[in-house]
Amino acid sequence: MKELELGAKIGEGHFRECYAVKGEPGLCVKKLKPNLTILQRLHLNLLRRKMNQDEYNTYSKLPEALKPYFNPVIRAGRDYLVTKRLMDYDGSHSLPVSDYEKVSNKQFWEEVEKIVALFEAHNLWFFDAFQLGTNVFVQRLSEDHWRPVIVDYKRHGWRSYPAQLNLLCNSEKKKKFYRKYERFVGLFMGDTVSR
Ligand SMILES: Nc1ncnc2c1ncn2[C@@H]1O[C@H](COP(=O)(O)OP(=O)(O)O)[C@@H](O)[C@H]1O
Ligand SMILES: [Mg+2]
Repeated sequence: MKELELGAKIGEGHFRECYAVKGEPGLCVKKLKPNLTILQRLHLNLLRRKMNQDEYNTYSKLPEALKPYFNPVIRAGRDYLVTKRLMDYDGSHSLPVSDYEKVSNKQFWEEVEKIVALFEAHNLWFFDAFQLGTNVFVQRLSEDHWRPVIVDYKRHGWRSYPAQLNLLCNSEKKKKFYRKYERFVGLFMGDTVSR
């Protein structure tokens, strides 16, 4: 694969920032933030040395039914990750849920429920998938059909929260997931689609 030239910064999270790629509107690159705190560096070096490769492996091992809801990782190295940049049906870039006040689309929320049912079925608890709407995007496949797509799925085990030993236990992971999920629903589900 040829060298990629980074464009504008398009987002940032706790550990990484995300850049557009010049001449490749369908790609973006995540890199570690240059200004991580000492605590964050310690956490990374001790427990999450291979965060990007881990995310790549996680994607490869996902149950097939979940893959359409996870943004694919294309290439991962120690300090970077190349991934798809989501596009809507009209050619614009998809936006994270956090950019919406409410996501008023019935099909979107039906698919969110489907994702959660699949997490249940496979006992997979991605804590941060729905965290405050920054890790899940709204991909508009048509005017009426909107789909949730998770772009950040690195946290699903004890290593993400090493101080919380209770997360070695599956039921605790599930509890943590649901706490964040309920908050997400409360924040972003519009009145038009209330349960
Ligand atoms: N595939 C993507 N397309 C567009 N923006 C993205 C994509 N992946 C991540 N981002 C943006 O970059 C931010 C940081 O990426 P993320 O993977 O969540 O990093 P962190 O590990 O620091 O949480 C996201 O919150 C989102 O706004
Ligand atoms: Mg994130």
